[in-house]
Amino acid sequence: MPTASRRLRIAPSLLSADFAALGDAVAAAEAGGADAFHLDVMDGHFVPNISFGPALVQAVRTRTKLPLDVHLMIERPDRYAEAFARAGGDTLVFHQESKDDPSEVIRRIRGLGVAVGIALKPETPFSAVEGFADRLDQIMVMSVHPGFSGQSFLPEAIPKLEAARAALRSIGSHADLSIDGGVTAVTAIPAARAGATFFVCGNAVFAGGRVAENLVEVRRAIDQGAADAVR
Ligand code: DX5
Ligand code: ZN
Repeated sequence: MPTASRRLRIAPSLLSADFAALGDAVAAAEAGGADAFHLDVMDGHFVPNISFGPALVQAVRTRTKLPLDVHLMIERPDRYAEAFARAGGDTLVFHQESKDDPSEVIRRIRGLGVAVGIALKPETPFSAVEGFADRLDQIMVMSVHPGFSGQSFLPEAIPKLEAARAALRSIGSHADLSIDGGVTAVTAIPAARAGATFFVCGNAVFAGGRVAENLVEVRRAIDQGAADAVR
C-alpha cells in the first residue's frame, strides 16, 4: 500500500487526560475521530517522571477497541514488554536509548505477537535506528524531551522526519512514522509535510475539554501538510 493513500492517524495521549475520568476521555476522543490511543509509560529512571503501568493499559483496553500504542519510556523494555502485551497493547514502542539491546527487544516484542516500534529522543540521530528500519512497524520521532506533556515542539524533529521518510521509502517500508511531543494544529502541518503518518497529541486534544473540536483542528492541519508532502 503506497503511503500516500494511507489514512494519516491521530493518537491522543492519555497522559494529558483527566485520570479521574479516563473512561470519559477515551469515549470523547473516540467519538471525536481518534484513530488509536497513545499510552505513556514512565518509570522514573529513563525519564524523571512516573506515570502508570500495565494495570492502567488493561483498564483502557476494556473501554475501546481502537489500537493501543504503548510508549515505553523505561530503562528495561525487555523486562516489561510481556506485561504490556498481556495488558492489551497493540504496538509496543521502546527507546533506542534504553539499557537493552534493540535487536533483542525487537525479537522479544515480535515474539509476543504485537507490533514493534522504536522511539528516538530529540538528541538521537535517525542513523542510530536506520539499521533496524526493515524490522519495525513504527519509528517514533520525539519532538520534546520525554517525561512530560504540554511542552513545545522542537523544530529539529522535522529534518529527522524527512531523513526517516527517505530511508523508509528507499527500503519500501510501510512502517508508521510517528511524531510525539508538542503536536498541535500548527506543528502538525510541517510534520505531515515531512512525511509523518501517525500523530500523537496530548494537550492539543485534551486541554480545555473541547476534545472533538480539537481533533477536527489537528486533522485539518494534518490534511493541509499532507497535501504537499513528498512521500
Ligand atoms: C512525552 C510523551 C508525549 C506527551 C505528548 O514524554 O511521550 O506522548 O505526553 O503530550 P503533548 O502533545 O502535550 O506534548
Ligand atoms: Zn509518548
